Amino acid sequence: MFALSRRPRTAHTTLILALATALPSAAPAQELSRNAQELYVQLCAACHGRNLEGGSGGSLLEGGWFNAAGDDTQLEKIITQGLPEAGMPGFGDALDAPRVRALAVYLRERFVRAQERGTTFHRPAENVTVRSEAAAFRTETVVEGLNIPWSLAFLPGTSDMLIAERDGRLLLVRDGKLQPEPIAGTPRVVARGQGGLMVVQPHPDYAAPGNGWLYLAFSDPGPGDTTMTAIVRGRIRDGRWTDEQQIYRAAPEHYTRAGHHFGVRLVFDQGYLFFGIGDRGQQHEAQDLGRPNGKMHRIHDDGRIPDDNPFVGRPGALPTIWSYGHRNPQGIVARPGTTGESLQIWLTEHGPRGGDELNLVQRGANFGWPVVTHGINYSGTPVSAETSRPGMVDPVVFWTPSIAVCGLEFYTGDRFPGWKNNLFVGGLRQEEVRRVVLEGDRVKSQEVIFRGIGRVRTIHQGPDGLLYVGLETPGRVIRLVPAE
Ligand code: HEC
Repeated sequence: MFALSRRPRTAHTTLILALATALPSAAPAQELSRNAQELYVQLCAACHGRNLEGGSGGSLLEGGWFNAAGDDTQLEKIITQGLPEAGMPGFGDALDAPRVRALAVYLRERFVRAQERGTTFHRPAENVTVRSEAAAFRTETVVEGLNIPWSLAFLPGTSDMLIAERDGRLLLVRDGKLQPEPIAGTPRVVARGQGGLMVVQPHPDYAAPGNGWLYLAFSDPGPGDTTMTAIVRGRIRDGRWTDEQQIYRAAPEHYTRAGHHFGVRLVFDQGYLFFGIGDRGQQHEAQDLGRPNGKMHRIHDDGRIPDDNPFVGRPGALPTIWSYGHRNPQGIVARPGTTGESLQIWLTEHGPRGGDELNLVQRGANFGWPVVTHGINYSGTPVSAETSRPGMVDPVVFWTPSIAVCGLEFYTGDRFPGWKNNLFVGGLRQEEVRRVVLEGDRVKSQEVIFRGIGRVRTIHQGPDGLLYVGLETPGRVIRLVPAE
């Protein structure tokens, strides 16, 4: 019981207790757990079975309650109001809104996992052809023996490919062969937790005379064992990193000892550079415009700050911010054919437990974290009762359970005509690549094209029109090639 019970009951506390039971959701019911699974056991297992397999109430693993579009309104209504005709009691008096929300996420996780247990996923290999919905393919290994590759880049106008490993090594693959020595003199990175060398990416005009710029994003060491996302650019000459310029570095007071949620991935458009920084584990700071974490940023590609950014001139706001309320941006890509005013940046970001999101970034917009979310804490306790709020942008789609979204790429090549303009979403924990078909700005359909051959960190279309995938376990780069 809560501290209240140890004090003698005064008229005042009795009144509060009476109110709490009389008014649905007026106050959290202290004797109930905040952990979703424990709540389920406390309140639901007696009728629906400890494993949701059913009892006097039906199984919740096959129920009509599941809404594939992700709308939990009906489910939350069943939990609060019950189904009196069918003998299901309502729990609106006992449960506050965050707990109802946590139960909904828990049921959704269990339901999807149960559905998937009966499903087999494709596992492509050199000699295993996958016949997916819109193309047949197999995989080829391009480079193996890598130590956690986090990013790869094709250098325009050459056959060279660069691979960034988490521990900070920048590797060159020339004519299909991994060169034994890493590029010398790259910045020191803090390879700890989710930090390391996160991005290598060429400037879009890399091949133009005098350009040759390569951008690196990484966890930068700060004072007293702290780190923060930073971006530099430089050139490679004779196997060495040279001409380094600082492009983005946060103020020292924004460095933290947290080892997670660095965000990053870069989009270039018309001389601008967009990138994301995760909340660095400080959820509420994603709503604080005075802090760089939990934001998408826009700067010039040489690091200058544009004077037409949405929060320029607002007291206390950082002028680099483009949008906010992000938890941990991971995949960031421009939609092919959009630029300038029409530019569409698509963004995948990690939710907490459940609630991974695909977002369409909008200038100055608030994406809601942690005020609204479709997920719960890893411990099973609620983050928020709300999944949506006026003035905050909803995700285009969300995933519960989380797939741990990571790499993201639009396919525009000719080798897989059936995949043209589809979005490919990688998953770390689910070890999957998902093909997302868009219709306008909405998701029309999704297909998991394979699962279970390694944590998918990064996905890129190569100059040959094939899709290259960086896998962490074991560290390698594969490509998908058309098969008969
Ligand atoms: C006293 C028994 C009882 C308890 C306790 C109970 N339920 Fe139910 N529940 C039922 C019955 C009976 C039905 C209607 C028949 C069916 O679908 O099983 C039902 C239906 C449902 C449905 C709709 C199923 C569908 O397929 O449409 C959901 C969702 C649900 N319950 C969730 C819960 C949750 C969550 C809890 C715990 C907070 C809970 N129930 C607690 C008896 C119970």
